[in-house]
Amino acid sequence: DRGNHRHFMEKEIYEQPEAISRTMSRYIDFAELKSKPIDGSIDFSAIDRLTMSACGTAFYAGVVGKYWFERYARLPVEIDIASEFRYREMPLGPRDAAMFISQSGETADTLASLRYCKDNGLPIGAVVNVQESTIAREANAIFPTLAGIEVGVASTKAFTAQLTVLASLSIIAGRQRGTIDDAREAELCQALVEIPGLMTKALNEIQPQIEKLAQELSHYKHVLYLGRGTSFPLAMEGALKLKEISYIHAEGYAAGELKHGPIALIDEKMPVIVIAPYDAVFAKTVSNMQEVAARGGRIILITDAEGAAAADMETMATLVVPKVPEIAAPIVYSAPIQLLAYHTAVFMGTDVDQPRNLAKSVTVE
Ligand code: M6R
Repeated sequence: DRGNHRHFMEKEIYEQPEAISRTMSRYIDFAELKSKPIDGSIDFSAIDRLTMSACGTAFYAGVVGKYWFERYARLPVEIDIASEFRYREMPLGPRDAAMFISQSGETADTLASLRYCKDNGLPIGAVVNVQESTIAREANAIFPTLAGIEVGVASTKAFTAQLTVLASLSIIAGRQRGTIDDAREAELCQALVEIPGLMTKALNEIQPQIEKLAQELSHYKHVLYLGRGTSFPLAMEGALKLKEISYIHAEGYAAGELKHGPIALIDEKMPVIVIAPYDAVFAKTVSNMQEVAARGGRIILITDAEGAAAADMETMATLVVPKVPEIAAPIVYSAPIQLLAYHTAVFMGTDVDQPRNLAKSVTVE
């Protein structure tokens, strides 16, 4: 049932504050601002490396997770696309653990990667939405996303629920590894607890601006997304979302890679969407934006009020998102990228929930 929404995708976008909060309550004690105990089959203090593998949107969630595990738990993370991981014969050792991320829990390549790690004797964790799935069944520890059924082929609430689990696990891993003390844990948990409210605020505040912008965007054939730090995987996710439902060619790049190639593409026909919360790497991203502007590129800047003021640039549009704590940014900034892709596709009249050539669950290689 789509309720009052035109598409399941739209409904699922707006369900996110609730899906995130439900998922988070499984891992975080909201009242005590502490992480909750998890399945003991994965002990983050007993490993030297975490190997993650997934496909599509779940892979991008994993890339964000890598930044978090490395920053908060000082745990090195290897992440690869499952279709590559399963065949590249990665050496695995006794102090490795593996983590797989999948909405459906049935993705063929992700499952094959899981079995490769299992055959190598690694403890297996799985971040899954469908808990009666094969991946859930074969994992040692299940870290559920409680997003509810996701119908739209373009993943939205499953993605932000995956991010919620990974953010929570990075705090839990930090506690187990002694890199996070009580005060830091409380501070990070407080930041997480604020996310559902910030997400609601973001969705409501940008909505009026998005429709007009989406109409404009629907006239372009190519779009480039840029981001740094955890905004880099978000740039890739934004590009995937736009291409899969609007069929506009889009690419996501690390902002710092701009001058190593993609800058050659920049002209007034290829808008550049820059995802840049006002954080530690903001100034670096602004200098990349200036490079785009100097070549006649048109910029859509997604930032907060401080970022908008500090950037002080002529843009095609600036979408202002509420100010968020660092760990919350990738989740809250999912709202504008999803809505932009959604409304662009709606303008173009595509089959948003069931885009051509795509299936919700990819059970064949
Ligand atoms: O069910 P999974 O999470 O394993 O699926 C992985 C990808 O097929 C999936 O995320 C796909 O990229 C979506 N269509 C993205 O919106």
